Amino acid sequence: MFPASEADYRNWRATRFDRYPERAQELVVDIAGLTTMDSSEKAAIGDRIQRANMAIYSCRDGVADRAAIRSFAAQFGLTRLDHHLCANDDGVSELMVASDGKRGGYVPYSSRSLSWHTDGYYNEASRRVRAVVLHCVQDSVSGGQNAILDPEIAYIRLRDANPGFIAAFEHPDCMTIPANVAEEGEIRPAVSGPVFSFDGPGGSLHMRYSARKKNIRWRDDPMTTAAREFLSELLADEDGPVMHYRLKPGQGFISNNVLHNRTAFEDAHAQRRLLYRARFFDRVHSS
Ligand SMILES: [Fe+2]
Repeated sequence: MFPASEADYRNWRATRFDRYPERAQELVVDIAGLTTMDSSEKAAIGDRIQRANMAIYSCRDGVADRAAIRSFAAQFGLTRLDHHLCANDDGVSELMVASDGKRGGYVPYSSRSLSWHTDGYYNEASRRVRAVVLHCVQDSVSGGQNAILDPEIAYIRLRDANPGFIAAFEHPDCMTIPANVAEEGEIRPAVSGPVFSFDGPGGSLHMRYSARKKNIRWRDDPMTTAAREFLSELLADEDGPVMHYRLKPGQGFISNNVLHNRTAFEDAHAQRRLLYRARFFDRVHSS
């Protein structure tokens, strides 16, 4: 629950900073396998989620398929899948370099770098992506590292710097994604919404963000611009709260849709990067 009173907020803020990991290694939890984890391993993942809204699991048994991803996620209350445009029928996407078909036009299906974002920032409010599981089946030859940051830490740093930043980011027209129009017509209408919102009064914080320069229309006012600049600097600060991790085969992230980016990567013919990704409308049940 998000604290309502100023006193509760100060306490919550202090705890968030106290418990937040200094490096990504603190997020890593060894588990037997996606469908064979025991209760102490599950509790260890829950602990990382409570500290940072994310955990990195590392399977001793790396066998994984899309059904295993779904059953792993379900153990954390993640059952309502976002059936994304490029996902398979079961709602789990296979992220791999695609040279043809409808996926080829999207950066996640290329080897290019991905700028900072939360997943599904172009979804309307009724389809908020609250949690994501990203599982590495095969890593690339080089590159493909993620940077990660808990949105609650971003919120705190923004509010510390200027409470006006929060008001600007809570404005319902703060960030607009123009309609997605393909040759065959409109795939998705334009979507406007805030960067920060809550699941009802006192509910969990949700962040919707993309650092992309193209295809994003920001509300044109000085406070929004200043808030964006502050956030960009925070995300670029090598001495700040951002952590870095490169997933190896059998490892994955489970998170409450944290901020992330990805460096460019290089595949070889015999080693092509493959990740499974599942997005959920639920938040991770961490206890
Ligand atoms: Fe993403």
